[in-house]
Amino acid sequence: MEKFILWHNPAVTDFSLPPLSLYVHLPWCVRKCPYCDFNSHERESLPEIEYIDALIRDLDWELSQADWTPRPLHSIFFGGGTPSLFSAEAIQRLLRAVEAKLGFEEDIEITLEANPGTAEAERFTGYRQAGVTRLSIGVQSFDDQQLQKLGRIHRSEQAVAAADMARAAGFTQYHNGAHGFNLDLMYALPGQRVEEALSDVEQALALEPSHISHYQLTLEPGTAFYYRPPELPDDDTAFAMQTACQKTLAEAGFEHYEVSAYSRPLRACRHNLNYWQFGDYLAIGAGSHAKLTSRQSIHRRSKVKTPDKYLRYAGAHEALDEAAGIPESQRGFEFMLNALRLVEGVPSALFEQRTGLPLATIEKTLGPLRERGLLTQNARRIQPTDQGLRFLNVLMGEFL
Ligand SMILES: C[S@@+](CC[C@H](N)C(=O)[O-])C[C@H]1O[C@@H](n2cnc3c(N)ncnc32)[C@H](O)[C@@H]1O
Ligand code: SF4
Repeated sequence: MEKFILWHNPAVTDFSLPPLSLYVHLPWCVRKCPYCDFNSHERESLPEIEYIDALIRDLDWELSQADWTPRPLHSIFFGGGTPSLFSAEAIQRLLRAVEAKLGFEEDIEITLEANPGTAEAERFTGYRQAGVTRLSIGVQSFDDQQLQKLGRIHRSEQAVAAADMARAAGFTQYHNGAHGFNLDLMYALPGQRVEEALSDVEQALALEPSHISHYQLTLEPGTAFYYRPPELPDDDTAFAMQTACQKTLAEAGFEHYEVSAYSRPLRACRHNLNYWQFGDYLAIGAGSHAKLTSRQSIHRRSKVKTPDKYLRYAGAHEALDEAAGIPESQRGFEFMLNALRLVEGVPSALFEQRTGLPLATIEKTLGPLRERGLLTQNARRIQPTDQGLRFLNVLMGEFL
């Protein structure tokens, strides 16, 4: 990895650039789910060719900016929306263009999100041939009544079929570390009991994924559920579900490495780990967000959210929605907001490497959190405690 002088601060001079990931947002879905606040839009037919062209123009625009250093990619993540609405040919065309412009690290991880309601065996095989190494399947639950309440377009049997197709297409845990497939589950669903949440995890495990994301359903502002909330389990029941599921996942050999993420050994999502370790990521696509490090600053930028506007302006300055540097006074807090999601925390030295600041700059915030037993810190590691992870929003609140 390239070594260079990163910071003006004379005390902090010689650092490697962090790994560089790429996030690609594909903003369309068959139907909007009532709990979802992602930048996703219903549309019957996709302007697939035009959108891939727009993404390539967007990447060229990024390459024309002098505020980051192009380097081979560590990981790519196709998120949505529903990326599996796109054909394998479209994904392949984009991947070849990206590879030609930036290059890939040898064992790059390339993830694509798929909705079981859009899964097709041939398409999954095509994604694998195009270079995708990891599928992330939005199962949510194996209970058909729950799926209906959640407004999903698929039933349980389609989720099982999608996992079977993923395995048959070669997305298995037996290849090198960047391969496998993830199943997204949500718990604390309307009227759900602890045994039902547990049964979802058991059914997911039976499909032999390499990774399970286990999210507590949250009522996000602006969603249909926010305005007409269904009756959800109380906090104690939700916590009981989380603990029971965690135990079952641990017994099945899954490591709990982030608040909502569990994986087989060495199958953690490298792309998300790079976010949580305050690495760099480029972003292309409607409403996508980037974080980049240059010699003088760390900055964020995002692209316009509306797909039509994005299609019109991609490749021009008008496609930029927001752009701002992360002020030095905020950097340490932003680092912690990410790092403390990780069960094992991060090496203490990473703080200085990624922020360019000594850890002492945030001692006023860290000290009281240590005393309250929410995190531990020594010369080697900074790590949330079990209490810190359980009350993550309290912990996060101190850094916000
Ligand atoms: C972009 S979606 C995954 C791909 C595809 N769009 C799908 O839903 O099948 C990302 C994941 O975020 C989770 N998610 C979305 N909204 C959520 C919410 N309000 N609370 C908890 N998890 C949520 C779901 O598990 C979902 O699968
Ligand atoms: S399919 Fe996924 S991205 Fe689309 S609305 Fe539903 S949860 Fe959101």
